Amino acid sequence: MTNPFSLHGCHALVTGANTGIGQAIAVGLAAAGASVVCAGRRPCDETVAQITQAGGAASSVHVDFTDPMAGQTLFTGQGFDILINNAGIIRRNDAVDFTESDWDAVMDVNLKALFFTTQAFAREILATKTTGRVVNIASLLSFQGGIRVPSYTASKHGVAGLTKLLANEWAAKGINVNAVAPGYITTNNTEALRADPIRNAAILDRIPAGRWGDPADIAGAATYLCTPAAAYIHGAVLNVDGGWLAR
Ligand SMILES: NC(=O)c1ccc[n+]([C@@H]2O[C@H](COP(=O)([O-])OP(=O)(O)OC[C@H]3O[C@@H](n4cnc5c(N)ncnc54)[C@H](OP(=O)(O)O)[C@@H]3O)[C@@H](O)[C@H]2O)c1
Repeated sequence: MTNPFSLHGCHALVTGANTGIGQAIAVGLAAAGASVVCAGRRPCDETVAQITQAGGAASSVHVDFTDPMAGQTLFTGQGFDILINNAGIIRRNDAVDFTESDWDAVMDVNLKALFFTTQAFAREILATKTTGRVVNIASLLSFQGGIRVPSYTASKHGVAGLTKLLANEWAAKGINVNAVAPGYITTNNTEALRADPIRNAAILDRIPAGRWGDPADIAGAATYLCTPAAAYIHGAVLNVDGGWLAR
């Protein structure tokens, strides 16, 4: 019997796979049977070691989206089926003081690099394969406004919009484009929030599940969206937030 949740034979690339959510997704995809290329601006040795020690297949590649066009050559002739757009940054400041450089840095990594990397992936799929999967990492701030993070909020609303646009254009061409919107997850990105007892208590109080999310919680959803079981899902933004947005 064919397992509709297996990724055996699939080849995946995960951006920002050296740590946090990207690392967990790389491990999750490998556990489902995919061979995984871990892309990062810093070495992804730890992630590759985790996967290979568990009997999976992984390698790494350098990519720095400070140049948002840096993903252009990642896919040529490599036989990828899956792209996970996870790399992302955040800059915090009051809207009245927010600088152009903080605007551009976040938009370049979170939105412009995501679009043009996905374009390069899709061109390769359309030329060489019949199907492909893209999972974008969105945010609660794809739906909510947040505070003191104007470029992050704009970029993540953009990620949700692009997910739907690309799904509309490519669903009939065999490429599924979806997103996962994480809630509050324990990574480097949220270390400062967890270290602040008042903010931490306020966040926990609002999460119906009563706990922060683990990167593995996001990996489960992202991996599912890459499996044959999710073949008819196009343009979805799946909240994985312990119920935060349900309140
Ligand atoms: N943690 C949360 O609660 C949460 C919630 C909603 C959405 N997200 C999203 O989830 C994704 C992963 O974040 P995380 O929480 O796992 O944070 P993280 O631990 O800070 O990881 C971010 C990843 O993006 C990479 N990255 C940053 N700038 C890059 C660049 N110029 N080129 C290539 N890679 C770059 C980072 O590399 P370095 O390690 O070298 O910096 C790292 O691998 C992001 O898109 C974030 O917006 C996170």
